[in-house]
Amino acid sequence: MNVLDALEWRYATKKFDADKKLPVEKIDTLKSAFNLTATSFGLQPVRLLVIGNQKIKEELVQHSFNQQQVADASHLLVFAVETDIDEKYIQSYFDRVKDIRQTPDEVLKPFRDYLETSVKTMETGIKKEWIAKQAYIAMGNLLTVCAVEQIDACPMEGFVNAEYDRVLGLEAKGLTSVLAMPVGYRAQDDMFAGFKKVRKQVEESILEI
Ligand SMILES: Cc1cc2nc3c(=O)[nH]c(=O)nc-3n(C[C@H](O)[C@H](O)[C@H](O)COP(=O)(O)O)c2cc1C
Repeated sequence: MNVLDALEWRYATKKFDADKKLPVEKIDTLKSAFNLTATSFGLQPVRLLVIGNQKIKEELVQHSFNQQQVADASHLLVFAVETDIDEKYIQSYFDRVKDIRQTPDEVLKPFRDYLETSVKTMETGIKKEWIAKQAYIAMGNLLTVCAVEQIDACPMEGFVNAEYDRVLGLEAKGLTSVLAMPVGYRAQDDMFAGFKKVRKQVEESILEI
């Protein structure tokens, strides 16, 4: 299947086959693809929670406006972000660069100083919004990967973030939930699978200048 056929094949799956589980290799592909997602400055402030535990998935349905796909999917992915990025966090990024690329301190210093100052002087609300945007990029990436891998998925904003944070114990980890994505296999009778895609004409979406 080429990538456009795969993107036509995918849809926001409303009804999953609760008896079909993703094999571990598929989950591993999603984990690696997530980790390869591009992030602003490469800071990776997004963590992916991979939830296979049926009890937890069921508990989260009530906090997802009763969207049953959260429980019926093979796994529930939750995209959570760092509640803050401070100097220590930025330092850990540069330690990784040094470790992996053996880049000398004097080469990294101007960029590190710039990043530290930018993040320190950023208004709190703007910083939180900027961090949360990184989760959307990761979900977009995984949606395409799912399509290519023939994994069904439902991108979701429709849940109560504070309740997810509580159930998943995210505050203690310095994290907060932004997005959720049940993944698995569509139920044979999910009527949404047969619906035509509703999209603008390409000419309407694209501006060629
Ligand atoms: C950020 C985002 C949040 C969404 N939240 C939900 C949701 O909570 N529940 C749901 O069933 N679909 C949700 N959707 C799915 C969209 O409704 C769906 O992608 C859109 O209608 C296009 O249909 P298609 O993905 O099936 O082609 C969401 C999609 C995005 C990108």
